[in-house]
Amino acid sequence: MSDTHIYRVQPDWKREASIDNETYLSWYERSISDPDGFWGEHGKRLDWFKPYTKVKNASFEGDVSIKWFEDGELNVSYNCIDRHLEKRGNQVAIIWEGDDPSSHRKITYRELHEQVSRYANVLKAQGAKKGDRITIYMPMIVETAYAMLACTRIGAVHSVVFGGFSPDALAGRIVDCQSEIIITADEGLRGGRKVPLKVNTDKAIDIAARQSMSVRKVLVVRHTGGAVDWVPGRDLWLNDEAKAASPDCPAEPMNAEDPLFILYTSGSTGKPKGVLHTTGGYLVHVSLSHQHIFDYHDGDIYWCTADVGWVTGHSYILYGPLANGATTLMFEGVPNYPDNSRFWQVVDKHKVNIFYTAPTAIRALMGAGDEWVKKSKRTSLRILGSVGEPINPEAWEWYYNVVGEGRCPVIDTWWQTENGGILIAPMPGATDLKPGSATRPFFGVVPKLIDNDGNVIEGEGSGNLCIAQPWPGMMRTVHGDHARFIETYFSQYPGNYFTGDGCRRDADGYYWITGRVDDVLNVSGHRMGTAEIESALVAHEKVSEAAVVGYPHDVKGQGIYCYVTLNEGETGDDALRKELVAHVRKEIGPIAAPDKIQFAPALPKTRSAKIMRRILRKIAEDDFSSLGDTSTLADPSVVDDLIANRQNRH
Ligand code: WT7
Repeated sequence: MSDTHIYRVQPDWKREASIDNETYLSWYERSISDPDGFWGEHGKRLDWFKPYTKVKNASFEGDVSIKWFEDGELNVSYNCIDRHLEKRGNQVAIIWEGDDPSSHRKITYRELHEQVSRYANVLKAQGAKKGDRITIYMPMIVETAYAMLACTRIGAVHSVVFGGFSPDALAGRIVDCQSEIIITADEGLRGGRKVPLKVNTDKAIDIAARQSMSVRKVLVVRHTGGAVDWVPGRDLWLNDEAKAASPDCPAEPMNAEDPLFILYTSGSTGKPKGVLHTTGGYLVHVSLSHQHIFDYHDGDIYWCTADVGWVTGHSYILYGPLANGATTLMFEGVPNYPDNSRFWQVVDKHKVNIFYTAPTAIRALMGAGDEWVKKSKRTSLRILGSVGEPINPEAWEWYYNVVGEGRCPVIDTWWQTENGGILIAPMPGATDLKPGSATRPFFGVVPKLIDNDGNVIEGEGSGNLCIAQPWPGMMRTVHGDHARFIETYFSQYPGNYFTGDGCRRDADGYYWITGRVDDVLNVSGHRMGTAEIESALVAHEKVSEAAVVGYPHDVKGQGIYCYVTLNEGETGDDALRKELVAHVRKEIGPIAAPDKIQFAPALPKTRSAKIMRRILRKIAEDDFSSLGDTSTLADPSVVDDLIANRQNRH
């Protein structure tokens, strides 16, 4: 990979109170050499009910115990709302832009305070207590923000499940964290299409009941007004309950290490893991990073296009921006509805200054043509962010030149659900940019490259990306399974957190993420495990075996390629392909729908019956000239059939 062109920090990217290069270097150095001093100081950016006297007590060795600010007490909703009331009670906290371009709402900090307090009182009235898990399965509407913040206000632990997940996937998450209360809406709306959230919730509750998990209460937000089934006594209209509830609810003092939320994410094996984040360190990390990485200043209008069902939505739609007293925009819709200029129309409509989106959206809009961008002015834009997957230099350049007209730095932010907040990214006033590189580590983050044999790569080189020291926002455990936490992240390179990503460090110390080195796919910025898709496929009555790999896809980043072996007597045809795609959509959700299905009489296996994925990946990429050594296969002739029937031909 070449180092391409360097974009130097432009003079007007350095503003008053922005971090310049010298400040970055000196803060970074201190954050590593004196974490107690650095984070002890920056922890004060929050309001603490009881100040901490200890800062860091964390180790990646042995049992892996991570604690930050462990004797401090605070509340997330208080920090995101109450403390701003005096100075910015009438400032807009949330701009909501509906799927329908004629609909929007603006919620001030004072209104947010009132609604969140009402929601919190509804939760209490339904018996929710500190530490209880509450599942939130919602569209992108302000009520979702109220629900999440209300949980934090009373110390309940939210588990937000992306609205695109199926009833099965939702049920698995409800059961895993034993959540007795679910907050949902009648329906969601995306690109003019309705998403049957309440119907899915009802199905999920039935599935959970078969696993002895009984959901007591379903709080339903009336959004589209669509008809829904109703279970009296269990189901309540949240809008009505909130209206009747008191607008006064004191924020519960929480220990810094009390759980804040669980978010399920896919790994290379097994069921999705419940990533557990706690209160104090998380909020310090997301607020500090939101301020400096996006060079956020008072009065800025900030828009992150993610869904709150993902960690990006948690950290950079809600918690980071609101902790900083920002105006954050929540968008219900999609980039191409009603047409491909929607993002830029919204930017102009609400005078967005900081815009944060995903490479898959950038590539799709780039493919649609520049004319859609040029229909808008975009003069308010100052910063362009990217997250979710590697951004290819071509998309980076388009974002920079066409969307930003060469005025706005492109801030490529690398991080993961497990990390809580951004770990590698440039800062607008400090970092020269290289298209395709996430550049340099955030404060407190020590990246380390280690090769497959465990050798540490110093200076220039490539390896498996690890993080050598604990940072405040990182996950604390896998909910209910600390052994899995240690096994997943700390067993490969003991003493280090292993990210699952490959990475190159260049001569300037810049980091270039090359993608996952494990069996995790990244499809349109959505993370999923090949094992999950395989187990969905083999659950189909006609399937005997399946192997799933990723292949390069122009818009999605990666596409999903499935090799499927059928039971004796079944025939693989297009009708069955359609049936299998529908089946996976039903089991996991539309985001996991296979792009290609190849029926294979047999899969390539070693003599010890291990599937050789390397070969399957190559064939899916239509690159079978370099299959490598196939002599260790139990039956090498399997490969000829796979090549002959490949579904991707260039
Ligand atoms: C994986 C984490 C937390 C952000 C949303 C995704 C990939 C994420 C980048 C980036 C290259 C990236 C990695 C990572 N990824 N951002 N800027 N450049 N790769 O969170 O669902 O937990 O996925 O997304 O492969 O491991 P996630």
